[in-house]
Amino acid sequence: MKAEFPRRLFLAFGALLGGGSLYLLGRGLLTFFSAPGSPDPPSRFPVADPAELSRLKDPWKYHQGVWLIRDSRGWYALLGRCTHLGCRPALDPSSGLLVCPCHGSRFDLQGRVVKGPAERPLPRLELARGSDRKIWVDTGKETGASFRLPL
Ligand code: FES
Repeated sequence: MKAEFPRRLFLAFGALLGGGSLYLLGRGLLTFFSAPGSPDPPSRFPVADPAELSRLKDPWKYHQGVWLIRDSRGWYALLGRCTHLGCRPALDPSSGLLVCPCHGSRFDLQGRVVKGPAERPLPRLELARGSDRKIWVDTGKETGASFRLPL
């Protein structure tokens, strides 16, 4: 009878260790196969206030996974999600390119691929003025390269 207790304890410890290992393996696989960065915001949300944009020193603004970029014709939006595996490109001010931290893809401010492994441009998103006078973006609606929201 006395020999049963250590055996049961050993089995319980083994089950605990095995379960913990499976849990950690599952979490590791989830982390490995999911893109880094903050969770996606809702599809449609206010991205900027026009007065705020007019005060910006730089012709760009990043907000909740979306790049707002200004050129001579107005503002347009790029989804800040790399088309390779979904990481979030960051602006490199020295080169003026959006650089993906994961595998080094580079995009110009039009969203075009300058360097792979990404093969597709960053999606351009629809911008519209809301009834609250703010500028709204819809990450579920893509637009063409000629779209601009005049300010
Ligand atoms: S996820 Fe951006 S280069 Fe791979």
